[in-house]
Formats: sequence, structure tokens, C-alpha cells
Amino acid sequence: MTAYNEIKSNVNAVGAIDWDRRLFDELIPLPDGTSYNSYLVQGTEKTALIDTVDPSKTDVLLRNLGQLNPGHIDYIIANHAEQDHSGSIPVILQKFSDAQVVCTAKCKDMLIDLLGIPEKQFKVVSDGEILSIGNRTLQFIHTPWVHWPETMVSYLREEKLLFTCDFFGSHLATSDLYVTDNAQVLQAAKRYYAEIMMPFRIPIRSNMKKLEPLDINMIAPSHGPIYREPKLIMDAYRDWISDTVKNEVVIPYVSMHHSTARMVEYLTDALVKRGITVKPFNLTHTDIGELAMALVDTATIVIGTPTVLTGPHPLAVYGAYLANALRPKLKYASVIGSYGWGGKSLDILTSMIPNIKAELLKPVLIKGYPREEHFKALDDLADQIEQKHREEGIIEVDELVTE
Ligand code: FEO
Repeated sequence: MTAYNEIKSNVNAVGAIDWDRRLFDELIPLPDGTSYNSYLVQGTEKTALIDTVDPSKTDVLLRNLGQLNPGHIDYIIANHAEQDHSGSIPVILQKFSDAQVVCTAKCKDMLIDLLGIPEKQFKVVSDGEILSIGNRTLQFIHTPWVHWPETMVSYLREEKLLFTCDFFGSHLATSDLYVTDNAQVLQAAKRYYAEIMMPFRIPIRSNMKKLEPLDINMIAPSHGPIYREPKLIMDAYRDWISDTVKNEVVIPYVSMHHSTARMVEYLTDALVKRGITVKPFNLTHTDIGELAMALVDTATIVIGTPTVLTGPHPLAVYGAYLANALRPKLKYASVIGSYGWGGKSLDILTSMIPNIKAELLKPVLIKGYPREEHFKALDDLADQIEQKHREEGIIEVDELVTE
């Protein structure tokens, strides 16, 4: 945003759009940029600023606040300590030195560590605590592990408006203040969930439950557009955090001399013939956000790797490490690949995925370029995957394709 926008009477969005950012945490691709949303809530007695912006956009926040000219900011609500939301707090405190930073106890410690904010500036709030700003009331609900341990959300009772910071957010730079294209936003929100929230699927369940008693008619996250229909994103989250998996096989792979690639190609065809959706990802040029998104729902992962210096290819190691860190709700896993003279690819890869509570299906590791008996082994693996998916009840009869 390059100007403030009123979303409710005396509630203004004052944050910044980052159209150009293409990487977050020096890791996560941002194909659609992002935004750092900040909201100014003015009551008859006090004024609260909810979240700030990334330090690279402090000037935009200050300009937007200057145009609104609130006179004073009494509270800076820090729903989350990460610097893309907290990084401009020190500058706001220079301007409004009496303002109190309102946050959880853990967030206070983190903001002292990360930004050197003096202890006297803080007002720590307990779970469910209420703060009156005159004719309006803010309530703070602790929602730990979305996606750091200190996170909370803020509920503006009179407006039924929930400020959720990262929770329900999307990395999406758009001039639309509100969600207008549901499919586009759900895609961006799923990518965001996959990259950032998926490892915390179980804590998110508890936090979703805590939100159930609230009457919410608008969700204002601190990344991406605002939801005027909260059901859209809340239903999507319920689906993503459920134990339900899809009839899909994700195959992150790398191949040096096309042997492993040929195996991936053959297995892909064999699975498709059995009515299973397959998503192969060549790790030499995969957008890891796309891979993460595919891991949200898939029942099965098969890692494809050649052997390099007695172990798996480093890109396969990267893929396995990432999958393990993201903790997807996988049910089955296997490894396929080719070696020249031996190695420990299987042992190394399987030892790298302790967080994935999946059943290991019989791997297919072969010497050299695949031949008839190897294709037979891949058919056996495809049969096994089909059988497991049938046992899960995720293969529909009409999905079966016959030759
Ligand atoms: Fe958008 Fe966890 O920061």
C-alpha cells in the first residue's frame, strides 16, 4: 500500500506492499511478492497500532501514519516478534515514546533480544486479556506456534474483526485490499501454509479450536489481502490440518545420466495407469514452495536419487531434509534410484526423515540403466502404492485407468 485504507470506521490499513521481494528468510521463493500489513485502530480514548512492517518499508508506514495524523499512538500490538512485523517498532517508539508494546510474555523476551526494546516499554497480556481503548475493546488470544512460540491474535470485539498476523496470511502483493479472486488467494495461502505453518499442524488445530467461540466477520492478516468471508480461509485450514490425504504421489528427484530419470518416468506412468495422481519435481530447478504445496495433501512420497560418492545426490538430501522439516501428513514413503558400483543412499535418506511417520515401502535401487527386471520392480512398487491407497479409501473406482 502506498496510502492508508479504511476497513472499518476508524480502523485503517497502514502497511506496505512489497512488490519486488522474491525471497523470504533467504530460502522461500515469493513469486507474487508480499505485503506487511499494519492496522491503526482508533478508539475514543486510545489509539492502537496492530503490527508494524518490515524495516525496509518503515518509510511507507510512517508516511501512511502521517497522512492519518493520529496525534498519538498509545499501544503497539505485537502479535508476533518476527522482524517483518516487529522491525519498525523501534522507529515508532522514537516518535511515540510513551507507547506501550502489548504482547505475550514470550514475545516481550524475544523483542528485547531481537530489537533491544527497553523492558519498561512493554505491557504483557495474558491469554484472553481485554484492553479497552474507549468505545472499543481489544481481546488477545494466545495462539502459540503459528509459527513461533510467542504468537497471539487480536480481536476487535465491536467490529468482529480478527487480526491474525501470519496466521491465515499469504505472500501476495496485490492492490486489492480485500480478497477478490478466491482461487488466487487460496493458492497463495496454501503455499504460505505449506512453507511456514505445516510443521505446526497439530498446534494449529488447538488454536483453531480456541477461535471457535469468536464471532468473526473479517480476518485481517499481516500478509496478503483481508478476508471479508473468514469461512473461505478457515475451511481451507481445516482441510490442510486434517489427517485426510489425497490419492497422490510426490516424487522429488534428481538424475545425472538419465537412469534415475527413466525410473521416475516409468513409475509415473505406472502410477497414472493405476488411477493415482503423480507430481514429479526435478530438484535441479524446482521451486521449493511448489514442492511444499504438493506435500500438504499427498499420501505418498518417493524420493529419486542417483548415488554420488557412496551417498544420495546432495539435491536429494536437500529434498529429504526439507520434507522432514515440513512434517507433512504423509502415510507412505519410498526411495528409487540408480548407482554405479554401490553405496548407502537408502540408509542415509531414510535416516534423514525421522519426523515423517510414514510406512516405508520396498525401495527400488538398481545398478546402471534400468532394464526389464527393474521395470518389473517399479511395477511392483506401483502395485504396492495402489494397494495402500485403496486401503486408505482414497482411490475412487472411476479413477482407475485401463490400458
Ligand atoms: Fe510474517 Fe513470521 O513473519
